[in-house]
Amino acid sequence: MIEKAAILGGGVIGGGWLARLIENGVEVSVYDPDPEAGRKLGEVLANAERAYGKLTLAPRPAKGAWRLAGSVAEAVEGAELIVEAVPERIDLKHRVYAELEAVNTGGIIASSTSGYKPTDLQAPLKHPGRLIVAHPFNPVYLLPLVEIVAGARTDAGVVERAKAIYAALGMKPLHIRKEIDAFIADRFLEAVWREALWLVKDGIGTTEEIDDAIRFGFGLRWAQMGLFETYRVAGGEAGMRHFIAQFGPCLQWPWTKLTDVPELTDELIDMVASQSDAQSGAHSIRELERIRDDNLVAIMQALKANDWGAGKVLAAYERQLYAAAKTAAQDFSRPFVTVETRVPAEWTDYNGHMNVSRYGQLFSDAADGAMRVIGADQDYISKGLSYFTAETHIRYLDEAHAGDAVTVTTQVLDGAGKKLKLFHQMHHADGRLLATSEEMLIHVNLGTRRACDPAPEVAARLAPIAAAHAALPLPEGAGRAVGQRP
Ligand SMILES: NC(=O)c1ccc[n+]([C@@H]2O[C@H](COP(=O)([O-])OP(=O)(O)OC[C@H]3O[C@@H](n4cnc5c(N)ncnc54)[C@H](O)[C@@H]3O)[C@@H](O)[C@H]2O)c1
Repeated sequence: MIEKAAILGGGVIGGGWLARLIENGVEVSVYDPDPEAGRKLGEVLANAERAYGKLTLAPRPAKGAWRLAGSVAEAVEGAELIVEAVPERIDLKHRVYAELEAVNTGGIIASSTSGYKPTDLQAPLKHPGRLIVAHPFNPVYLLPLVEIVAGARTDAGVVERAKAIYAALGMKPLHIRKEIDAFIADRFLEAVWREALWLVKDGIGTTEEIDDAIRFGFGLRWAQMGLFETYRVAGGEAGMRHFIAQFGPCLQWPWTKLTDVPELTDELIDMVASQSDAQSGAHSIRELERIRDDNLVAIMQALKANDWGAGKVLAAYERQLYAAAKTAAQDFSRPFVTVETRVPAEWTDYNGHMNVSRYGQLFSDAADGAMRVIGADQDYISKGLSYFTAETHIRYLDEAHAGDAVTVTTQVLDGAGKKLKLFHQMHHADGRLLATSEEMLIHVNLGTRRACDPAPEVAARLAPIAAAHAALPLPEGAGRAVGQRP
Protein backbone atom coordinates (compact mmCIF):
# COMPACT_ATOMS: atom_id res chain seq x y z
CA MET A 1 0.00 0.00 0.00
CA ILE A 2 1.13 3.56 -0.67
CA GLU A 3 1.58 6.14 2.09
CA LYS A 4 1.32 9.45 0.27
CA ALA A 5 -0.87 10.54 -2.64
CA ALA A 6 -1.81 13.78 -4.37
CA ILE A 7 -5.10 14.70 -5.99
CA LEU A 8 -5.26 17.40 -8.65
CA GLY A 9 -8.85 18.58 -9.00
CA GLY A 10 -11.11 18.13 -5.97
CA GLY A 11 -14.52 18.01 -7.70
CA VAL A 12 -16.97 15.11 -7.82
CA ILE A 13 -14.35 12.54 -8.78
CA GLY A 14 -11.35 14.01 -6.92
CA GLY A 15 -13.52 14.18 -3.77
CA GLY A 16 -14.48 10.52 -4.16
CA TRP A 17 -10.83 9.50 -4.59
CA LEU A 18 -9.89 11.57 -1.54
CA ALA A 19 -12.47 9.72 0.56
CA ARG A 20 -11.35 6.27 -0.62
CA LEU A 21 -7.69 7.08 -0.02
CA ILE A 22 -7.99 8.60 3.46
CA GLU A 23 -10.50 5.96 4.60
CA ASN A 24 -7.72 3.47 3.80
CA GLY A 25 -5.07 5.33 5.76
CA VAL A 26 -3.29 7.18 2.92
CA GLU A 27 -2.04 10.74 3.51
CA VAL A 28 -3.31 13.05 0.74
CA SER A 29 -2.63 16.59 -0.54
CA VAL A 30 -5.28 18.10 -2.80
CA TYR A 31 -4.89 21.03 -5.18
CA ASP A 32 -8.01 22.73 -6.53
CA PRO A 33 -8.18 26.46 -7.40
CA ASP A 34 -11.90 26.66 -6.47
CA PRO A 35 -12.18 28.70 -3.23
CA GLU A 36 -15.19 26.54 -2.29
CA ALA A 37 -13.21 23.28 -2.68
CA GLY A 38 -12.60 22.81 1.06
CA ARG A 39 -16.29 23.05 1.93
CA LYS A 40 -17.36 20.76 -0.92
CA LEU A 41 -14.73 18.15 -0.06
CA GLY A 42 -15.76 18.27 3.60
CA GLU A 43 -19.35 17.43 2.62
CA VAL A 44 -18.27 14.52 0.40
CA LEU A 45 -16.00 13.18 3.17
CA ALA A 46 -18.85 13.31 5.71
CA ASN A 47 -21.08 11.25 3.39
CA ALA A 48 -18.23 8.82 2.67
CA GLU A 49 -17.44 8.31 6.38
CA ARG A 50 -21.11 7.54 6.97
CA ALA A 51 -21.16 5.04 4.06
CA TYR A 52 -17.96 3.25 5.20
CA GLY A 53 -19.40 2.91 8.71
CA LYS A 54 -22.25 0.92 7.17
CA LEU A 55 -20.20 -0.91 4.55
CA THR A 56 -17.97 -2.89 6.86
CA LEU A 57 -17.26 -3.63 10.50
CA ALA A 58 -13.77 -4.82 9.58
CA PRO A 59 -11.00 -2.87 11.33
CA ARG A 60 -9.82 -0.15 8.95
CA PRO A 61 -6.50 1.63 9.42
CA ALA A 62 -6.44 5.04 11.14
CA LYS A 63 -7.80 7.62 8.74
CA GLY A 64 -5.15 9.30 6.58
CA ALA A 65 -4.54 13.02 7.08
CA TRP A 66 -5.39 15.37 4.21
CA ARG A 67 -4.82 19.02 3.41
CA LEU A 68 -5.44 21.55 0.67
CA ALA A 69 -2.20 22.55 -1.07
CA GLY A 70 -1.62 26.00 -2.56
CA SER A 71 -0.36 24.74 -5.94
CA VAL A 72 0.08 21.66 -8.10
CA ALA A 73 3.79 21.60 -7.20
CA GLU A 74 3.09 21.73 -3.46
CA ALA A 75 0.49 18.96 -3.71
CA VAL A 76 2.59 16.44 -5.62
CA GLU A 77 5.80 16.68 -3.63
CA GLY A 78 6.76 13.17 -2.49
CA ALA A 79 3.50 11.60 -3.76
CA GLU A 80 3.74 7.96 -4.86
CA LEU A 81 0.37 8.23 -6.63
CA ILE A 82 -0.85 11.39 -8.38
CA VAL A 83 -4.56 11.27 -9.14
CA GLU A 84 -5.48 13.72 -11.89
CA ALA A 85 -9.17 14.64 -11.79
CA VAL A 86 -9.28 18.08 -13.43
CA PRO A 87 -12.04 18.92 -15.95
CA GLU A 88 -12.19 16.89 -19.17
CA ARG A 89 -10.05 19.14 -21.39
CA ILE A 90 -6.80 17.77 -22.76
CA ASP A 91 -5.04 21.18 -22.87
CA LEU A 92 -5.79 21.66 -19.17
CA LYS A 93 -4.63 18.14 -18.30
CA HIS A 94 -1.38 18.73 -20.23
CA ARG A 95 -0.81 22.02 -18.41
CA VAL A 96 -1.25 20.34 -15.04
CA TYR A 97 1.18 17.52 -16.02
CA ALA A 98 3.82 20.10 -16.98
CA GLU A 99 3.46 21.75 -13.56
CA LEU A 100 3.70 18.47 -11.69
CA GLU A 101 6.69 17.20 -13.68
CA ALA A 102 8.76 20.16 -12.47
CA VAL A 103 8.63 18.66 -8.96
CA ASN A 104 7.69 15.00 -9.10
CA THR A 105 9.34 12.57 -11.51
CA GLY A 106 8.65 9.21 -9.89
CA GLY A 107 5.00 8.95 -8.78
CA ILE A 108 2.42 7.11 -10.88
CA ILE A 109 0.20 9.63 -12.71
CA ALA A 110 -3.31 8.18 -12.84
CA SER A 111 -5.76 10.19 -14.94
CA SER A 112 -9.46 9.83 -14.10
CA THR A 113 -10.42 10.83 -17.65
CA SER A 114 -13.64 9.34 -18.95
CA GLY A 115 -12.53 9.31 -22.55
CA TYR A 116 -9.02 10.42 -23.53
CA LYS A 117 -6.54 7.77 -24.58
CA PRO A 118 -3.46 7.55 -22.34
CA THR A 119 -1.18 7.77 -25.40
CA ASP A 120 -2.60 11.24 -26.11
CA LEU A 121 -2.40 12.25 -22.45
CA GLN A 122 1.25 11.19 -22.10
CA ALA A 123 2.39 12.78 -25.40
CA PRO A 124 4.06 15.93 -23.95
CA LEU A 125 5.40 14.29 -20.76
CA LYS A 126 9.12 14.12 -19.95
CA HIS A 127 8.51 10.88 -18.03
CA PRO A 128 5.56 9.37 -19.92
CA GLY A 129 6.17 5.81 -18.72
CA ARG A 130 4.41 6.45 -15.41
CA LEU A 131 1.08 7.65 -16.82
CA ILE A 132 -1.98 5.43 -16.95
CA VAL A 133 -5.69 6.03 -17.12
CA ALA A 134 -7.46 4.85 -13.97
CA HIS A 135 -11.10 5.56 -14.76
CA PRO A 136 -13.35 5.30 -11.67
CA PHE A 137 -17.11 5.43 -11.17
CA ASN A 138 -19.09 7.79 -9.02
CA PRO A 139 -19.20 7.41 -5.98
CA VAL A 140 -15.52 6.50 -6.16
CA TYR A 141 -15.42 5.66 -2.43
CA LEU A 142 -18.01 2.89 -2.84
CA LEU A 143 -18.01 1.51 -6.40
CA PRO A 144 -15.16 -0.97 -6.81
CA LEU A 145 -14.55 -0.74 -10.57
CA VAL A 146 -11.55 1.17 -11.92
CA GLU A 147 -10.70 0.76 -15.62
CA ILE A 148 -6.92 0.70 -16.09
CA VAL A 149 -5.61 1.66 -19.52
CA ALA A 150 -1.94 1.83 -20.54
CA GLY A 151 -0.67 4.12 -23.29
CA ALA A 152 1.89 3.28 -25.96
CA ARG A 153 4.70 4.64 -23.76
CA THR A 154 3.53 3.36 -20.37
CA ASP A 155 6.30 1.36 -18.65
CA ALA A 156 5.78 -2.34 -18.19
CA GLY A 157 5.32 -2.78 -14.46
CA VAL A 158 3.39 0.44 -13.84
CA VAL A 159 0.08 -1.23 -14.64
CA GLU A 160 0.82 -4.11 -12.27
CA ARG A 161 1.89 -1.70 -9.52
CA ALA A 162 -1.27 0.35 -10.02
CA LYS A 163 -3.46 -2.77 -9.96
CA ALA A 164 -1.96 -3.77 -6.61
CA ILE A 165 -2.59 -0.30 -5.19
CA TYR A 166 -6.25 -0.27 -6.28
CA ALA A 167 -6.85 -3.79 -4.98
CA ALA A 168 -5.43 -2.72 -1.60
CA LEU A 169 -7.94 0.16 -1.66
CA GLY A 170 -10.78 -2.38 -1.95
CA MET A 171 -11.28 -1.87 -5.71
CA LYS A 172 -11.61 -4.10 -8.76
CA PRO A 173 -9.00 -2.94 -11.29
CA LEU A 174 -10.04 -3.99 -14.80
CA HIS A 175 -7.15 -3.81 -17.24
CA ILE A 176 -8.52 -2.80 -20.65
CA ARG A 177 -6.67 -4.78 -23.32
CA LYS A 178 -6.74 -2.16 -26.07
CA GLU A 179 -6.64 1.57 -25.87
CA ILE A 180 -9.89 3.05 -27.22
CA ASP A 181 -11.76 6.30 -26.60
CA ALA A 182 -14.10 5.99 -23.61
CA PHE A 183 -12.86 2.47 -22.71
CA ILE A 184 -15.51 -0.20 -21.99
CA ALA A 185 -17.98 1.20 -19.49
CA ASP A 186 -18.55 4.68 -20.88
CA ARG A 187 -18.80 3.42 -24.46
CA PHE A 188 -21.58 1.17 -23.20
CA LEU A 189 -23.22 3.87 -21.09
CA GLU A 190 -23.17 6.32 -24.00
CA ALA A 191 -25.31 3.94 -26.02
CA VAL A 192 -27.82 3.61 -23.17
CA TRP A 193 -27.82 7.37 -22.52
CA ARG A 194 -28.42 8.09 -26.23
CA GLU A 195 -31.39 5.73 -26.35
CA ALA A 196 -32.80 7.23 -23.15
CA LEU A 197 -32.64 10.76 -24.60
CA TRP A 198 -34.48 9.56 -27.71
CA LEU A 199 -37.17 7.99 -25.54
CA VAL A 200 -37.70 11.30 -23.69
CA LYS A 201 -37.56 13.38 -26.89
CA ASP A 202 -40.05 11.14 -28.68
CA GLY A 203 -42.38 11.32 -25.66
CA ILE A 204 -42.26 7.56 -25.07
CA GLY A 205 -41.45 7.91 -21.37
CA THR A 206 -40.58 10.55 -18.78
CA THR A 207 -37.21 10.53 -17.02
CA GLU A 208 -38.93 8.81 -14.08
CA GLU A 209 -40.58 6.14 -16.24
CA ILE A 210 -37.28 5.38 -17.95
CA ASP A 211 -35.52 5.10 -14.59
CA ASP A 212 -38.35 2.79 -13.42
CA ALA A 213 -37.85 0.60 -16.49
CA ILE A 214 -34.22 0.18 -15.40
CA ARG A 215 -34.38 -0.10 -11.62
CA PHE A 216 -37.40 -2.41 -11.34
CA GLY A 217 -36.08 -4.78 -13.95
CA PHE A 218 -32.87 -5.27 -15.88
CA GLY A 219 -30.89 -2.86 -13.66
CA LEU A 220 -31.17 -5.40 -10.84
CA ARG A 221 -29.87 -8.11 -13.17
CA TRP A 222 -26.96 -5.98 -14.36
CA ALA A 223 -25.73 -5.29 -10.82
CA GLN A 224 -25.17 -8.95 -10.16
CA MET A 225 -24.41 -10.69 -13.49
CA GLY A 226 -23.83 -8.00 -16.08
CA LEU A 227 -25.09 -8.58 -19.61
CA PHE A 228 -23.65 -11.76 -21.09
CA GLU A 229 -24.15 -14.03 -18.12
CA THR A 230 -27.71 -12.69 -17.77
CA TYR A 231 -28.43 -13.43 -21.44
CA ARG A 232 -26.91 -16.88 -21.14
CA VAL A 233 -29.43 -17.64 -18.40
CA ALA A 234 -32.19 -16.06 -20.53
CA GLY A 235 -31.36 -18.55 -23.30
CA GLY A 236 -32.64 -21.34 -21.06
CA GLU A 237 -31.00 -24.77 -21.11
CA ALA A 238 -29.68 -24.19 -24.63
CA GLY A 239 -27.71 -21.17 -23.32
CA MET A 240 -25.97 -18.46 -25.30
CA ARG A 241 -26.22 -19.93 -28.82
CA HIS A 242 -29.97 -20.29 -28.46
CA PHE A 243 -30.25 -16.77 -27.06
CA ILE A 244 -28.42 -15.31 -30.06
CA ALA A 245 -30.46 -17.37 -32.52
CA GLN A 246 -33.68 -16.17 -30.90
CA PHE A 247 -32.92 -12.51 -30.24
CA GLY A 248 -29.96 -11.72 -32.52
CA PRO A 249 -32.12 -10.91 -35.57
CA CYS A 250 -33.97 -8.22 -33.53
CA LEU A 251 -30.82 -6.13 -33.73
CA GLN A 252 -31.74 -5.51 -37.37
CA TRP A 253 -35.19 -4.25 -36.44
CA PRO A 254 -35.70 -0.50 -36.04
CA TRP A 255 -35.80 -0.73 -32.23
CA THR A 256 -32.73 1.29 -31.71
CA LYS A 257 -31.66 4.65 -33.05
CA LEU A 258 -28.14 3.20 -33.15
CA THR A 259 -25.57 5.98 -33.42
CA ASP A 260 -28.03 8.65 -34.49
CA VAL A 261 -27.62 11.21 -31.71
CA PRO A 262 -30.57 13.43 -30.72
CA GLU A 263 -29.76 17.10 -31.04
CA LEU A 264 -29.50 18.68 -27.62
CA THR A 265 -31.92 21.53 -28.40
CA ASP A 266 -33.05 23.92 -25.65
CA GLU A 267 -36.44 22.22 -25.86
CA LEU A 268 -35.00 18.75 -25.19
CA ILE A 269 -32.77 20.03 -22.38
CA ASP A 270 -35.77 21.78 -20.75
CA MET A 271 -37.82 18.63 -21.08
CA VAL A 272 -35.20 16.41 -19.44
CA ALA A 273 -34.35 18.95 -16.71
CA SER A 274 -37.96 19.73 -15.75
CA GLN A 275 -38.95 16.05 -15.72
CA SER A 276 -35.91 15.34 -13.57
CA ASP A 277 -36.90 18.18 -11.18
CA ALA A 278 -40.41 16.70 -10.90
CA GLN A 279 -38.91 13.26 -10.29
CA SER A 280 -36.19 14.07 -7.75
CA GLY A 281 -36.31 17.78 -6.90
CA ALA A 282 -37.72 17.14 -3.42
CA HIS A 283 -34.27 15.93 -2.30
CA SER A 284 -31.02 17.89 -2.18
CA ILE A 285 -28.05 16.39 -4.05
CA ARG A 286 -26.36 15.45 -0.75
CA GLU A 287 -29.58 13.69 0.37
CA LEU A 288 -29.74 11.81 -2.93
CA GLU A 289 -26.08 10.83 -2.46
CA ARG A 290 -26.88 9.37 0.95
CA ILE A 291 -29.89 7.45 -0.39
CA ARG A 292 -27.72 6.17 -3.27
CA ASP A 293 -24.90 5.20 -0.87
CA ASP A 294 -27.26 3.30 1.46
CA ASN A 295 -28.69 1.37 -1.49
CA LEU A 296 -25.24 0.57 -2.89
CA VAL A 297 -24.04 -0.64 0.52
CA ALA A 298 -27.13 -2.84 0.86
CA ILE A 299 -26.60 -4.32 -2.62
CA MET A 300 -22.90 -4.99 -2.01
CA GLN A 301 -23.61 -6.59 1.35
CA ALA A 302 -26.29 -8.82 -0.16
CA LEU A 303 -23.84 -9.85 -2.89
CA LYS A 304 -21.16 -10.47 -0.24
CA ALA A 305 -23.42 -13.03 1.42
CA ASN A 306 -23.46 -14.85 -1.95
CA ASP A 307 -19.71 -14.33 -2.53
CA TRP A 308 -20.55 -12.88 -5.93
CA GLY A 309 -19.62 -9.91 -8.13
CA ALA A 310 -19.04 -6.65 -6.26
CA GLY A 311 -19.74 -8.55 -3.00
CA LYS A 312 -16.75 -10.79 -3.69
CA VAL A 313 -14.54 -7.70 -3.92
CA LEU A 314 -15.96 -6.46 -0.59
CA ALA A 315 -15.26 -9.86 1.02
CA ALA A 316 -11.66 -9.81 -0.29
CA TYR A 317 -11.22 -6.26 1.01
CA GLU A 318 -12.45 -7.29 4.46
CA ARG A 319 -10.09 -10.30 4.53
CA GLN A 320 -7.25 -7.89 3.74
CA LEU A 321 -8.31 -5.56 6.57
CA TYR A 322 -8.58 -8.40 9.09
CA ALA A 323 -5.17 -9.77 8.05
CA ALA A 324 -3.60 -6.32 8.51
CA ALA A 325 -5.27 -5.96 11.92
CA LYS A 326 -4.03 -9.41 12.94
CA THR A 327 -0.47 -8.33 12.40
CA ALA A 328 -1.02 -5.10 14.36
CA ALA A 329 0.28 -5.52 17.91
CA GLN A 330 -2.34 -6.32 20.57
CA ASP A 331 -1.69 -7.22 24.18
CA PHE A 332 -3.25 -10.66 24.65
CA SER A 333 -2.34 -10.87 28.34
CA ARG A 334 -5.47 -8.75 28.97
CA PRO A 335 -8.97 -8.74 27.46
CA PHE A 336 -8.30 -7.83 23.81
CA VAL A 337 -10.25 -5.65 21.38
CA THR A 338 -12.48 -7.68 19.05
CA VAL A 339 -14.81 -4.96 17.68
CA GLU A 340 -14.39 -1.21 17.21
CA THR A 341 -17.23 0.55 15.39
CA ARG A 342 -19.84 3.28 15.37
CA VAL A 343 -23.58 2.71 15.76
CA PRO A 344 -25.26 3.32 12.36
CA ALA A 345 -28.54 5.29 12.54
CA GLU A 346 -30.61 2.35 11.26
CA TRP A 347 -29.47 0.20 14.20
CA THR A 348 -31.62 2.32 16.52
CA ASP A 349 -35.27 1.47 17.18
CA TYR A 350 -38.55 3.06 18.26
CA ASN A 351 -37.01 3.70 21.70
CA GLY A 352 -34.35 5.88 20.06
CA HIS A 353 -31.44 3.63 21.08
CA MET A 354 -29.50 0.66 19.68
CA ASN A 355 -31.82 -2.30 19.25
CA VAL A 356 -31.14 -5.52 21.20
CA SER A 357 -30.52 -7.45 17.98
CA ARG A 358 -27.54 -5.17 17.25
CA TYR A 359 -26.03 -5.86 20.67
CA GLY A 360 -26.25 -9.51 19.66
CA GLN A 361 -24.69 -8.75 16.28
CA LEU A 362 -21.75 -6.91 17.85
CA PHE A 363 -21.15 -9.77 20.31
CA SER A 364 -21.30 -12.23 17.43
CA ASP A 365 -18.74 -10.09 15.57
CA ALA A 366 -16.63 -10.07 18.75
CA ALA A 367 -16.68 -13.88 18.81
CA ASP A 368 -15.60 -13.86 15.13
CA GLY A 369 -12.80 -11.46 16.10
CA ALA A 370 -11.68 -13.87 18.84
CA MET A 371 -11.79 -16.72 16.31
CA ARG A 372 -9.41 -14.84 14.02
CA VAL A 373 -7.06 -14.16 16.95
CA ILE A 374 -6.78 -17.86 17.79
CA GLY A 375 -6.45 -18.86 14.13
CA ALA A 376 -9.95 -20.37 13.73
CA ASP A 377 -10.36 -18.20 10.63
CA GLN A 378 -11.64 -18.77 7.09
CA ASP A 379 -8.65 -21.00 6.17
CA TYR A 380 -9.26 -23.14 9.25
CA ILE A 381 -12.97 -23.46 8.44
CA SER A 382 -12.13 -24.51 4.89
CA LYS A 383 -10.21 -27.44 6.47
CA GLY A 384 -13.50 -28.59 8.04
CA LEU A 385 -13.05 -27.32 11.60
CA SER A 386 -14.80 -24.49 13.43
CA TYR A 387 -16.50 -23.37 16.64
CA PHE A 388 -20.28 -23.25 17.15
CA THR A 389 -21.92 -21.06 19.81
CA ALA A 390 -23.88 -23.21 22.27
CA GLU A 391 -25.10 -20.65 24.81
CA THR A 392 -25.00 -16.91 25.49
CA HIS A 393 -26.11 -14.68 28.33
CA ILE A 394 -26.32 -10.98 27.46
CA ARG A 395 -26.83 -8.19 30.01
CA TYR A 396 -28.03 -4.87 28.55
CA LEU A 397 -26.66 -2.29 30.99
CA ASP A 398 -26.76 1.07 29.23
CA GLU A 399 -27.96 2.74 26.04
CA ALA A 400 -26.06 3.47 22.84
CA HIS A 401 -27.30 5.99 20.25
CA ALA A 402 -26.76 6.61 16.55
CA GLY A 403 -23.17 7.63 15.81
CA ASP A 404 -21.76 6.49 19.19
CA ALA A 405 -18.33 4.85 19.08
CA VAL A 406 -18.35 1.44 20.80
CA THR A 407 -15.63 -1.08 21.53
CA VAL A 408 -15.93 -4.73 22.51
CA THR A 409 -13.14 -6.47 24.45
CA THR A 410 -13.00 -10.20 24.97
CA GLN A 411 -11.65 -12.29 27.85
CA VAL A 412 -11.13 -16.05 27.65
CA LEU A 413 -12.67 -17.63 30.77
CA ASP A 414 -12.05 -21.23 29.76
CA GLY A 415 -10.09 -22.51 26.78
CA ALA A 416 -9.47 -26.15 27.56
CA GLY A 417 -10.33 -28.92 25.08
CA LYS A 418 -13.54 -28.65 23.08
CA LYS A 419 -15.02 -25.90 25.22
CA LEU A 420 -14.28 -22.21 24.82
CA LYS A 421 -15.93 -19.78 27.22
CA LEU A 422 -15.64 -16.09 26.33
CA PHE A 423 -16.70 -12.98 28.21
CA HIS A 424 -17.29 -9.92 26.01
CA GLN A 425 -17.66 -6.38 27.39
CA MET A 426 -19.05 -3.56 25.24
CA HIS A 427 -17.95 -0.07 26.21
CA HIS A 428 -19.01 3.35 24.99
CA ALA A 429 -16.21 5.75 24.01
CA ASP A 430 -17.04 7.75 27.18
CA GLY A 431 -16.13 4.72 29.30
CA ARG A 432 -19.64 3.46 30.17
CA LEU A 433 -20.11 -0.31 30.19
CA LEU A 434 -23.04 -0.84 27.80
CA ALA A 435 -23.43 -4.62 27.87
CA THR A 436 -21.71 -7.91 28.59
CA SER A 437 -22.09 -11.28 26.93
CA GLU A 438 -20.92 -14.59 28.34
CA GLU A 439 -20.67 -17.13 25.55
CA MET A 440 -19.96 -20.85 25.45
CA LEU A 441 -18.61 -22.19 22.18
CA ILE A 442 -17.96 -25.80 21.25
CA HIS A 443 -15.28 -26.86 18.80
CA VAL A 444 -16.74 -29.00 16.00
CA ASN A 445 -15.82 -31.09 13.01
CA LEU A 446 -17.86 -29.59 10.16
CA GLY A 447 -17.99 -32.95 8.38
CA THR A 448 -19.59 -34.90 11.22
CA ARG A 449 -21.14 -31.80 12.90
CA ARG A 450 -19.92 -33.30 16.20
CA ALA A 451 -17.73 -31.86 18.93
CA CYS A 452 -14.00 -32.54 18.71
CA ASP A 453 -10.76 -31.06 20.03
CA PRO A 454 -9.31 -28.11 18.13
CA ALA A 455 -6.36 -28.70 15.79
CA PRO A 456 -2.94 -28.27 17.43
CA GLU A 457 -2.25 -24.90 15.76
CA VAL A 458 -5.42 -23.37 17.26
CA ALA A 459 -4.88 -25.02 20.64
CA ALA A 460 -1.32 -23.65 20.67
CA ARG A 461 -2.50 -20.09 20.00
CA LEU A 462 -5.35 -20.30 22.48
CA ALA A 463 -3.40 -21.84 25.39
CA PRO A 464 -1.15 -18.87 26.32
CA ILE A 465 -4.07 -16.43 26.05
CA ALA A 466 -6.30 -18.66 28.22
CA ALA A 467 -3.48 -19.05 30.78
CA ALA A 468 -2.85 -15.29 30.94
CA HIS A 469 -6.56 -14.53 31.27
CA ALA A 470 -7.01 -17.17 33.99
CA ALA A 471 -4.74 -15.04 36.18
CA LEU A 472 -7.06 -12.03 35.80
CA PRO A 473 -9.93 -11.40 38.23
CA LEU A 474 -13.26 -12.91 37.14
CA PRO A 475 -15.14 -10.04 35.45
CA GLU A 476 -18.17 -8.61 37.28
CA GLY A 477 -21.28 -10.33 35.94
CA ALA A 478 -19.60 -13.55 34.82
CA GLY A 479 -21.57 -16.69 35.71
CA ARG A 480 -24.81 -14.75 36.19
CA ALA A 481 -28.20 -16.32 35.46
CA VAL A 482 -31.20 -14.45 34.03
CA GLY A 483 -32.96 -12.40 36.72
CA GLN A 484 -30.31 -13.08 39.36
CA ARG A 485 -29.84 -10.13 41.75
CA PRO A 486 -26.33 -8.74 42.16
N1 LIG B 1 -18.38 12.89 -12.95
C1 LIG B 1 -18.24 11.63 -13.28
O1 LIG B 1 -19.19 10.84 -13.15
C2 LIG B 1 -16.92 11.10 -13.78
C3 LIG B 1 -16.71 9.70 -13.72
C4 LIG B 1 -15.46 9.19 -14.08
C5 LIG B 1 -14.45 10.05 -14.51
N2 LIG B 1 -14.68 11.40 -14.58
C6 LIG B 1 -13.55 12.24 -15.03
O2 LIG B 1 -12.95 12.83 -13.88
C7 LIG B 1 -12.39 14.10 -14.20
C8 LIG B 1 -12.98 15.16 -13.27
O3 LIG B 1 -14.38 15.18 -13.44
P1 LIG B 1 -15.39 15.70 -12.30
O4 LIG B 1 -16.72 15.14 -12.66
O5 LIG B 1 -14.84 15.45 -10.94
O6 LIG B 1 -15.39 17.27 -12.61
P2 LIG B 1 -15.67 18.47 -11.58
O7 LIG B 1 -15.97 19.65 -12.43
O8 LIG B 1 -16.66 18.05 -10.54
O9 LIG B 1 -14.26 18.67 -10.86
C9 LIG B 1 -13.12 19.18 -11.49
C10 LIG B 1 -12.37 20.00 -10.45
O10 LIG B 1 -11.11 20.40 -11.01
C11 LIG B 1 -10.84 21.70 -10.53
N3 LIG B 1 -9.84 22.33 -11.40
C12 LIG B 1 -10.01 23.14 -12.47
N4 LIG B 1 -8.81 23.52 -12.95
C13 LIG B 1 -7.86 22.94 -12.18
C14 LIG B 1 -6.43 22.95 -12.17
N5 LIG B 1 -5.73 23.65 -13.06
N6 LIG B 1 -5.78 22.24 -11.21
C15 LIG B 1 -6.46 21.53 -10.30
N7 LIG B 1 -7.82 21.48 -10.27
C16 LIG B 1 -8.50 22.17 -11.20
C17 LIG B 1 -12.18 22.39 -10.53
O11 LIG B 1 -12.19 23.52 -9.66
C18 LIG B 1 -13.10 21.28 -10.04
O12 LIG B 1 -13.28 21.29 -8.63
C19 LIG B 1 -12.72 14.34 -15.69
O13 LIG B 1 -11.61 13.95 -16.46
C20 LIG B 1 -13.90 13.41 -15.93
O14 LIG B 1 -14.00 13.00 -17.28
C21 LIG B 1 -15.88 11.95 -14.22
